[in-house]
Amino acid sequence: MSTFNPVADLGWRIDTLFTNFIGWTLFILVVVEALLVWVIWSFRDRPGREEPKPVHGHVGLEIGWTLIPVMIVTIISVPTIATIFRTQATPAPNALRIEVTGRQWWWEVRYPELNVVTANEIVVPVGRPVTLELKSADVIHSFWVPRVGGKRDLIGGKVNRLTFTVDTPGTYPGQCAEFCGLSHANMRMLLVAESPEAFDRWVQSKREPSVPPTGVAEGGRAAFMAGGCVACHAIRGLSSGVVGPDLTHFGSRQTIAAGLFANTPENLAAWIKDPPAMKPGARMPKLPLGDEQLSALVVYLGSLK
Ligand code: CUA
Repeated sequence: MSTFNPVADLGWRIDTLFTNFIGWTLFILVVVEALLVWVIWSFRDRPGREEPKPVHGHVGLEIGWTLIPVMIVTIISVPTIATIFRTQATPAPNALRIEVTGRQWWWEVRYPELNVVTANEIVVPVGRPVTLELKSADVIHSFWVPRVGGKRDLIGGKVNRLTFTVDTPGTYPGQCAEFCGLSHANMRMLLVAESPEAFDRWVQSKREPSVPPTGVAEGGRAAFMAGGCVACHAIRGLSSGVVGPDLTHFGSRQTIAAGLFANTPENLAAWIKDPPAMKPGARMPKLPLGDEQLSALVVYLGSLK
């Protein structure tokens, strides 16, 4: 998670501004320090030397050391303000809209135009502008994928927007950047940038309903319905809970518990057994599932590709 290696136009703008400022301020530092060294050397005490004459009310100097900082601040503020406006740009008409809702402590991700719902993994096409519509279902969160660019808050009752175009395919980790309670540090996400073709394939596969379970997975579905999961989680065609993440294609996600653990059967079993033990404050309760129900449930969820 580095801001110094951007992969989106938003990040490039901020990074370029930063790099320029480092260059300019380094130049100012060198000039000031050189003057300082010169003054110390020239006016050092030497035997038989009289004290230098103090300067009072020198109009030229007064104007000089007022004007020069004003010029420096002006030179710095013009590109800064321009960049602020550009990072708040109105979305392009062809931008892909994605609704991202912050929740304690995970990210709900909806593609309203594509009829796709997922969580904690935001898949975007490379080369096309993306506009995130950032909302909160509870407290204030902050969206931050460092290699994409600046942070933006998710605030209840308000929609904040963040528009960017990713230029390099890859998987970029992100993190909630506003303290939001016990598991703030565990509110992570992945931004996955894919070629337009791969993105279209991803959308197609995520639009399909999940494959009906067979064998052990069928028992897992029964456990999902009987064990209480159904009250909070949606699986398209089966349930419509909205408290927890949509699980329609859970099996194809890379991580569980908002980017905290790899999506493996072992981690998933441990997670379902005792969520608050794996993620402090997790809203998902311990459910009274037998060992057989639990392992069938893990098989079922893993089958939801
Ligand atoms: Cu959400 Cu910190």
